[in-house]
Amino acid sequence: MANWIDAEVIENKHWTENLYSLRVAGEIESFTAGQFGRLGLQIDDQIVGRPYSFVSAPDENVYEFYSIVVDEGPLSPKLAQLKKGDAVYLGKQANGFFTLDEVPAGEQLWMLSTGTGLGPYLSILKTDQPWQRFKKLILVHAVRYANELTYQDLISSFSQRDPDKFLYVPFVSREQTDFALHGRVPAAITDGRLEERTKLPLQSEHAQVMICGNPDMVKDTREVLQKRGFSKNLRRKPGNITTENYW
Ligand SMILES: Cc1cc2nc3c(=O)[nH]c(=O)nc-3n(C[C@H](O)[C@H](O)[C@H](O)COP(=O)(O)OP(=O)(O)OC[C@H]3O[C@@H](n4cnc5c(N)ncnc54)[C@H](O)[C@@H]3O)c2cc1C
Ligand SMILES: NC(=O)c1ccc[n+]([C@@H]2O[C@H](COP(=O)([O-])OP(=O)(O)OC[C@H]3O[C@@H](n4cnc5c(N)ncnc54)[C@H](OP(=O)(O)O)[C@@H]3O)[C@@H](O)[C@H]2O)c1
Repeated sequence: MANWIDAEVIENKHWTENLYSLRVAGEIESFTAGQFGRLGLQIDDQIVGRPYSFVSAPDENVYEFYSIVVDEGPLSPKLAQLKKGDAVYLGKQANGFFTLDEVPAGEQLWMLSTGTGLGPYLSILKTDQPWQRFKKLILVHAVRYANELTYQDLISSFSQRDPDKFLYVPFVSREQTDFALHGRVPAAITDGRLEERTKLPLQSEHAQVMICGNPDMVKDTREVLQKRGFSKNLRRKPGNITTENYW
C-alpha cells in the first residue's frame, strides 16, 4: 500500500484532448531516473492511486508525470481535470527497476516507447548517466497520431546537447507524415526500416534496449529482438532487453 503525502498541483499542461502533464509539489523520498511514483485522489470513500513514471529528473524540485486519459478508467480522467492549486496525493516512496543502474554496459542505448511510455526516458536523459555511459542514445517514440509526439522542445534540447550521440525516431501508426516512420516498432525492426533510419545496426553485441509502454508492443518487440540473439536482462542473468509494462 502506498504511504500518501499531501501534494499540490503546480501545473496541468494539456498537450491534446487526452494527453496531459502534471507538475506536482510535495516532499517524497529520493528516486532514481526511470522509476515511478504514485498519484492518488480521494474518490468516494477511498484513495484511488496508480503508478506514474517520473518525467522530472531526481534533482528537480517539482515532480512531473505524463499521462493519458483512459476514458473508462477510474483515475486518469479525474487527474486530467486537476487545476493549479488543487490537492493530490503523492506516494511517499518511488519504486521500480527500469533504471540505468539495472542496464548492463553497451555501446548503444535504444529507448523504445509507445504513448506515455516516453516519460521515464525523459527523466533518464535529463541526467548525465546515459550521456557518459553510451556512445549512442536512440529515443524511439511510437504514437497513433502525429499530435501525440509531445515534449518536442525537451527532445530538441537533447539533440543540441550532443547531436552526434543522440537520435530521435518518431513513429506514427494511424496517419501518414513526411517525417515519422509509419506503422509499428517491431515491424520496422524486422523489415530493417529502423536501422535504415538510424544508420545503426541493432545487434546484441553493441546494444542495450529498454522498452516501455503498451505490453503488447513490449512483448512483440522482445520477440523480434530475441530472434536476433537478444535476451532478457535479469538480475541473476544479465542480458540486453530491459522492460516496463504500463498495464
Ligand atoms: C509501472 C507503471 C508505470 C506507469 N506509468 C505511467 C505513466 O507514466 N503515464 C501513464 O499515463 N500511465 C502510466 N501507467 C498506467 C497508470 O498507472 C494508469 O493505469 C493509467 O493512468 C490509467 O489509470 P485509470 O485508473 O484511469 O485506469 P486503469 O484502470 O488503471 O487502466 C484501464 C486500462 O487503461 C489502459 N491504459 C492504462 N494506462 C495506459 C497508458 N499509459 N496508455 C494507454 N492505455 C493505458 C489499459 O488498457 C488498462 O487496462 C503506469 C503503470 C505502471 C504499472
Ligand atoms: N490515442 C488516442 O487517439 C486516444 C483517444 C482517446 C482515448 N485514448 C485512450 O488511450 C488508450 C490508448 O493509448 P495510446 O494511444 O497511447 O495507445 P496504444 O494503443 O498503446 O498506441 C500507441 C502506439 O503503440 C502501437 N502499438 C499498439 N500495439 C502494438 C504492438 N503490439 N506492437 C507494436 N506497437 C503497438 C500503436 O500502433 P497501432 O496504431 O497500430 O495500434 C501506436 O502506434 C486507449 O485505450 C484509450 O483509452 C487514446
